[in-house]
Amino acid sequence: MSATALAILYRQHLDVLEQRASVALERGGFEHLVVPSGTLHYQVFDDRDYPYAVNPHFKAWAPLTRNPGSWLVFTPGKRPTLIYLQPFDYWHVVPQAPSGYWVEHFDIRIIRTADEAAQHLPPPSRCAIIGEPQSALGEHVPNNPQAVIDYLHYHRAYKTPYELAMMRAASASGVRGHLAAERAFRAGASEFGIHLAYCQAVRQDANELPYNNIVALNEHAAVLHYTELGRLPPKDPRSFLIDAGASHAGYACDITRTHAADSAGEFQAMVQAVDAAQLGMCDQVRAGTDYKQIHIDAHLALAGILREFGVLKVSPEAALERGISSAFFPHGIGHGIGLQVHDVAGFAASDSGGSIDKPTGHPYLRLTRVLEPGMVVTIEPGIYFIDMLLEEVKKNGYGDAVDWDRVEAFKPYGGIRIEDDVVCTDAAPENLTRDAFAAA
Ligand code: GLY
Repeated sequence: MSATALAILYRQHLDVLEQRASVALERGGFEHLVVPSGTLHYQVFDDRDYPYAVNPHFKAWAPLTRNPGSWLVFTPGKRPTLIYLQPFDYWHVVPQAPSGYWVEHFDIRIIRTADEAAQHLPPPSRCAIIGEPQSALGEHVPNNPQAVIDYLHYHRAYKTPYELAMMRAASASGVRGHLAAERAFRAGASEFGIHLAYCQAVRQDANELPYNNIVALNEHAAVLHYTELGRLPPKDPRSFLIDAGASHAGYACDITRTHAADSAGEFQAMVQAVDAAQLGMCDQVRAGTDYKQIHIDAHLALAGILREFGVLKVSPEAALERGISSAFFPHGIGHGIGLQVHDVAGFAASDSGGSIDKPTGHPYLRLTRVLEPGMVVTIEPGIYFIDMLLEEVKKNGYGDAVDWDRVEAFKPYGGIRIEDDVVCTDAAPENLTRDAFAAA
């Protein structure tokens, strides 16, 4: 994208943020929105800090992800102020002076110590201060007013064109990593080696990625959030599940792929079946569709695949009704994504509060809203062979519904998950992930 086009998109984005912030402040009865970027946190009895994670409300305004001790102030009708900490420090690299397409829209005040920020903040009594408790600076203590948070979080689901551009760029990076990871798997690398190949290709350190890489060979793919990164390759690599994202200007992508070592085997055939079903689910990301319905339909589709492969002996409907499909697909179909990999307000009923329940029996679904243009969601169906959940099926009296020999045949592969990030539009969905793979 040209610098001019980016600058135009960013200006529009800022207009939206200012408009949202103005309404949120009015709802809460405040005059100023004040957002600390956050602070470093230290390990107990130690002077070593944890990886810094910027306040998402801060990076929504400016693409700054490595600036603890800075603040954003917005007062309706005025240019936003950025209080930018550029400390005198010879132990660490000091942040560069602000530059780029966004800078001209801010009144920027450079400070040299974190405490100096207080001189530039409005009187605290009229401020909605959005942040974590550790960001308190004197009388400026984060109060996170519910009415303000409800409004901002609800509307954050609707991405601006600028945000979509950032997410396309994040997807392009993530796809570079996925392609490098698959090459490393096929060359016989360990989980750790694959992870390093991924980071190298994305050009991001583990702490810059939006979440810990899940790199799972063989049975490890049955652990939903497997992040151990085994240091030695297995003797017989059969399958490879990688759930790994990338960041761009504070925005995330979240991508999962599953590969079989044997391209002619039954596991590869099951991967292809899940992939085809997943594409159908992505196509359901349309305005007016209840995300809960996509989740329920996914159970039916995945149970259908399990039946087709001889694992289930009952109909998809019976598998869903008896909770058997949940033993093989024990997580939600996905979540909102944007500034955070699991974006906020997945259950929000409105911009003034309330929540939409999850369907009974589906405790891990993270999003229950009706889809509307601008929302970006993940679609991540999976089939896993997890002992403790399969035992439950037997305990619940449904052992006859499963062909246990077929389960044993698939167990050495662990599981399958395919995940894309999909934009709901006025018409057909935009699949950020598939588009990035196609362009790579
Ligand atoms: N893809 C990782 C997660 O959703 O937690």
